[in-house]
Amino acid sequence: MAATAQTSVRPPASAAAAVPLLRANGIVKSFGGNRALNGVSLDVRSNEIVALVGDNGAGKSTLVKILSGAEIPDEGTIQVNGVPAEIASPHDAQDQGIATLHQHLGLVDCFDVAQNVFLGRELSARFLGVFPYLLHGEMRRRTADLLKQLDIRLPHLDRPVSTMSGGQRQAVAISRLLLGDVKLIIMDEPMAALGVQEGQKVLDLIESLSQRGISFLIVSHNMEHVMSISNRVAVLKNGNLVGVVPTESTTRQDLTSMIIHGRV
Ligand SMILES: Nc1ncnc2c1ncn2[C@@H]1O[C@H](COP(=O)(O)OP(=O)(O)OP(=O)(O)O)[C@@H](O)[C@H]1O
Ligand SMILES: [Mg+2]
Repeated sequence: MAATAQTSVRPPASAAAAVPLLRANGIVKSFGGNRALNGVSLDVRSNEIVALVGDNGAGKSTLVKILSGAEIPDEGTIQVNGVPAEIASPHDAQDQGIATLHQHLGLVDCFDVAQNVFLGRELSARFLGVFPYLLHGEMRRRTADLLKQLDIRLPHLDRPVSTMSGGQRQAVAISRLLLGDVKLIIMDEPMAALGVQEGQKVLDLIESLSQRGISFLIVSHNMEHVMSISNRVAVLKNGNLVGVVPTESTTRQDLTSMIIHGRV
């Protein structure tokens, strides 16, 4: 596909008839007396980018947290590839191929790119079968291979990530997710803290990863980004799913109306 994130509206993914990659069904979650999600059902298909929009407090982050194992729903089920999935921790989500990019990115500022990519999964060996040591060279080589594969260009792999721009840091955090076997990346407001150009680079990276078969669920308040990158848009209001619409057959005005008035 030659289209770029800037110029095209992505058509709906073709797998409409197939079993969705992820299916959340009737998700309910309350905090004290406050019902954050009121029976929300949402599918993400293979090779699809779904945007999740809604006003402040609509329940977007709560849904993301449930799908990424950070919160447990009061009611409802989750299926991955048609199979019921118990997602009770971020580790469970990872086992299902679901990775989440949090707004704080989870990078260690004073570490370089390879150290961050392999953070918590460092490669090591034992000298004389006893003394453990880290395989720095191997981790650097694999990181460089991974970035090349993903077509991510960073000027200096051996500098602390604190010296990098917001967009470059996001690229490192995304590469980190892709070290494992990831089918779905969930992002909560990924571009919120970035400038226009940096945000566009991240959109381009999402587009390119999606063409390699990774699905995305992206929370965003930026309607321009939503319109340019998603196949479908899901709208939440006060914990209810207002609707899910194909991006190519909707407009920003339609979406704004759904967000504000709660109807299609
Ligand atoms: N840990 C919590 N404890 C109590 N209430 C919570 C908690 N997390 C979320 N809520 C409430 O649940 C509702 C949904 O919050 P949520 O963070 O999911 O909204 P959101 O759509 O992500 O909003 P925003 O666009 O502002 O990020 C809100 O009323 C919020 O106050
Ligand atoms: Mg939120």
